This record gives sequence, structure tokens and C-alpha cells, in this order.
Amino acid sequence: MENTLVLIKPDGVQRGLIGEIISRLEKRGLKLVAAKRVSVDRPFAEKHYAIHKGKPFYDSLIQHITSAPVMATVWQGPNAIAIVRQTMGKTNPAEAAPGSVRHDFGLVPERNLTHASDSVENGAQEIALWFGEDEVIEWDRSTDRWAFFLNG
Ligand code: CMP
Repeated sequence: MENTLVLIKPDGVQRGLIGEIISRLEKRGLKLVAAKRVSVDRPFAEKHYAIHKGKPFYDSLIQHITSAPVMATVWQGPNAIAIVRQTMGKTNPAEAAPGSVRHDFGLVPERNLTHASDSVENGAQEIALWFGEDEVIEWDRSTDRWAFFLNG
């Protein structure tokens, strides 16, 4: 079982897409184990995007994520990292597969609506940055055995 961080970034929040994006992940079968609205300040944004420091788009990235509230969520399921990234689509919406969130609602990489962890290791680090241990709630969902194949 994997956990992954999904941020609905300010563009997604402002465009009223929180429900749409959460709904797609829920319908896919993933389980929501943490959620909160966050206003991100510059030091926190720099920690989250440390890996991108020095890239041409870094400043606009920091400016954007600190510009308005973000919806931070953690999703759990088998292959959650890959499943979420597939549901979101490629970073550049112009290259995202039809039916993905970024294809269906996005146009440019600077406004690609969401951030999703790219590996189990980075996911664990990102979740620890965004959420306290008591904010990630493990829970038994009655449909887990229908979506997760627990008894195989
Ligand atoms: P995200 O998953 O939040 O991680 C880094 C972000 O940088 C990415 O989504 C995009 O929103 C943004 N970005 C802007 N320009 C680029 C680019 N040329 N290549 C990759 N990411 C970019």
C-alpha cells in the first residue's frame, strides 16, 4: 500500500475544481487519509519546491503557490503514486492524456492545477512536510476489499 501527497494548487482552488479532482481520485478507488486547506508562505514553499531551485520556472512557481490557498490531501492505495500521476496526466497539459485532469482542465504547465508525489520516498517526505502524524488518519473503509484486493 502506498501513500501520496496531492496538492490542489491555487489555480485549481480558485477555479472551483477541488470537488472535481477529489471526486476523480475517490471514484478511481483511492482512499483519502488526510485533507486540509493551507495558506503557504515563502519559506514553506521553498522547502516543498527545493528540488526545483535554480530552474527557470522556480520564481513563478513559488509566487504561484503562495498566491492563494492550497488544498492539501493524502491518498492511499495500491500503486497510489503511479495511479495518481496517471489520473493527473503529464506536467504539461498540452501533453496530458485525454481524460486526465490536466488534459481536461489545463492549458499550460504554470497552471497545471495539481502537484502529486513522484515516488514513494518523495511522497513520505512531502507528507511529513505538509501534515503532522496525527493529521493522517488510517481508517477501514468498507469498500477496501472491493477496490484493493486485500484477500488475494
Ligand atoms: P508540480 O508538480 O507542482 O511541480 C513543479 C511545477 O513547476 C510543476 O508542477 C509545474 O506547475 C511547474 N512548471 C512550470 N514550468 C514548468 C516546466 N517547464 N517544466 C516542469 N514544470 C514546470
